[in-house]
Amino acid sequence: MPRKKNEVKASRSISAYRAGRRLVFIGVMAAASVASAAIFRTAAAESLRTPIELGRALFGDRNLSLSRKQNCVSCHSPELAFTDPRALGDVQGAVSRGGDGLSLGDRNSPSLTYVMMTPSFNLSAQNAAIGGMFWDGRARTIMDQVREPILNPIEMGMPDEASVVARLLESTEYRAAFPAIFGPRVLESTPKAFAALQTALAAYLKTTDFAPFDSKYDRSLRGEASLSPNEAKGRDLFFNTDGAGCSRCHSSVGVSGSHHDAFTNFRYFNLGVPENISVRAQNGSDVRRVDHGLMQNPEANVAAFDGEFKVPTLRNVAITGPYMHNGVFQELRTAVLFHLRFSESDGSKVNPETNSEWRRPEVASNIARAQLGMRMLSDADIDAIVAFLKTLTDKSYERLISN
Ligand code: HEC
Ligand code: HEC
Repeated sequence: MPRKKNEVKASRSISAYRAGRRLVFIGVMAAASVASAAIFRTAAAESLRTPIELGRALFGDRNLSLSRKQNCVSCHSPELAFTDPRALGDVQGAVSRGGDGLSLGDRNSPSLTYVMMTPSFNLSAQNAAIGGMFWDGRARTIMDQVREPILNPIEMGMPDEASVVARLLESTEYRAAFPAIFGPRVLESTPKAFAALQTALAAYLKTTDFAPFDSKYDRSLRGEASLSPNEAKGRDLFFNTDGAGCSRCHSSVGVSGSHHDAFTNFRYFNLGVPENISVRAQNGSDVRRVDHGLMQNPEANVAAFDGEFKVPTLRNVAITGPYMHNGVFQELRTAVLFHLRFSESDGSKVNPETNSEWRRPEVASNIARAQLGMRMLSDADIDAIVAFLKTLTDKSYERLISN
């Protein structure tokens, strides 16, 4: 049985914010939960006049899942930058539970903030992959992506597009809104109705709800805020070529057409992340299971991509733990430290969460050693980088972060 929401949230916040101001956090979460539930309720009840309004209602609609218990919000909550707020016991928030109340996934639910900046999946002639949805780019665009969770048996679990359209037809609001927005006969054809649903969800994911660009960092660029000396030091380490080299992968400046930084270059690398043993123990995976990342994408099924995952955005990263494609690290500092295993001097050998050596990579070939060869950073440098990463938190979530 899925646990009660507040109980689940409290336990996740304890694991994710072990060192933080967790009691404050729990209180804020309870209040935020009421507010966001209201947003979605209003959207469904009132008139739905635009693709965006319709998309927002669909995003919160549990009837799009077989059990009628799961919506997009279940795994992408607006309270936590559109990640999954559920702790799920030993899994500690690393992966999500499906709409059947039993199935457990194998990958961490990514933040949907700024997802609109991701270019379509593309494999260049030089065999470099860029863009696309999911950790392995297997859906080319947001439009393609939004159908997947609805039909995925371990997520919302609908058997086919026709059964989804039948659910749409149950609602008087949708029976009025879809034809008004997409044309009088749109609900009479399954492919047309389903495409309209995809268009509406994609339109919603492209709104400023997901990309306000109002973090302290954005405000500092506009001269509306100033970074503390420590945050500014972290920013310089992050961006300067003789610093930590983070922006080699975690910056879109010069990659995308936008003047805003997405804090990812949308490319794929294998960092050698270890298997998440507790997740695999709980989700009943075969012991020989390996997540091959990009190589599992049918369009990129070559050994050169084994173990590569999409560089995630670092916007809102302070509140979207646990980290990495499988949620194997609870703390932001650990995720940063992990990148330094191959740095010049000795590297960082010990996982502070387990106090033992980092476990071996799930895929040991192909590790991006050359790109990760950064200079060794002091503890104070790493603290500064973490302080900088916290400035990438959108304004509405700032109250959730500890300093
Ligand atoms: C059961 C939990 C769950 C539900 C329900 C769910 N998602 Fe997801 N979502 C995930 C996970 C996990 C991933 C990453 C999976 C992967 O990479 O293989 C993901 C990935 C995504 C991505 C790609 C983000 C990126 O940066 O690559 C988008 C967009 C998305 N989901 C939108 C939606 C929408 C829209 C809905 C509702 C129709 C939805 N999701 C329902 C768990 C869920
Ligand atoms: C070679 C490219 C590369 C460089 C350089 C790099 N990263 Fe990453 N980073 C990645 C990839 C790829 C992932 C996801 C890996 C996975 O999940 O398997 C990642 C994950 C992360 C995460 C976890 C995010 C999440 O949502 O799970 C953080 C935090 C992070 N990086 C911070 C940094 C910082 C800080 C630096 C500089 C010290 C840095 N990275 C340098 C490629 C890079």
